[in-house]
Amino acid sequence: MKSKIIAKVTTHVLQEMKLKGEKIAMLTAYDFSMARLLDCTGIDVILVGDSASNVMAGHRTTLPITLNEMIYHAKSVMRAITRALVIVDLPFGTYQGNSKEALNSAIRIMKESGADAVKMEGGKEIIESVERILSAGIPIMGHLGLTPQAIHKFGTYVVRATEKGEADTLVKDAHLLQDAGCFAIVLEKIPAKLGTKVTEQLRIPTIGIGAGKNVDGQVLVLHDMLGITQKFSPRFLRRYHNLSEEIKGSVTSYIEDVKSQSFPSEKEQY
Ligand code: KIV
Repeated sequence: MKSKIIAKVTTHVLQEMKLKGEKIAMLTAYDFSMARLLDCTGIDVILVGDSASNVMAGHRTTLPITLNEMIYHAKSVMRAITRALVIVDLPFGTYQGNSKEALNSAIRIMKESGADAVKMEGGKEIIESVERILSAGIPIMGHLGLTPQAIHKFGTYVVRATEKGEADTLVKDAHLLQDAGCFAIVLEKIPAKLGTKVTEQLRIPTIGIGAGKNVDGQVLVLHDMLGITQKFSPRFLRRYHNLSEEIKGSVTSYIEDVKSQSFPSEKEQY
């Protein structure tokens, strides 16, 4: 479906896209240069994900990244953006269990980075924090299914909600987040049938990552879809490029040129 030219994507635009059946395209970005490239393409949503903990900082999980580090990434991205909606993950430990701290964390992200919204992982257990942040006028995207900040509780990155009990809880949580006022929900690594069910029941858009094709939009981690990361290859990941090989090839050529003194040439000097 052809999208009309939109000057700035807002949460309201995403709602209209769901109503029209126009799919929402979302990718992560963590720095100015990549965010600028993404914004030029007409991507709808950019997520400053806490996956920065893995792909930018090299941690094994998303847990170590701090609020200050997320704000640093968000500020870099915001300097590049004119069109896309920018959402920033509230990192682990800045909102769970204490709604006052949650509000302060969300306010810091919005004030210091200028982003459009925040994303939070969880359902019923974080609803008090969700309500408090929403009451300050800060838009929230929810995140259900495989929530990587809870990896130590799950113990594994396998598909979530394959059993009825967990699936029923997920549906209830999705309604809870919608009724509280969240503007969209990410559904990560759940059966496609469950993704379809939640999407059909909700008024707000669902964005899937391994949740099948009948959700309202898709999100991938930029470094995974470009093939910069190499070891991570879940079934839901479509690689559009093999950038790691291209980068290594270019750097190898550069090293050879420097060593052989073919770089710089006469034309490349003053
Ligand atoms: O942090 C992240 O990149 C995410 C996406 C995988 C949805 O939460």
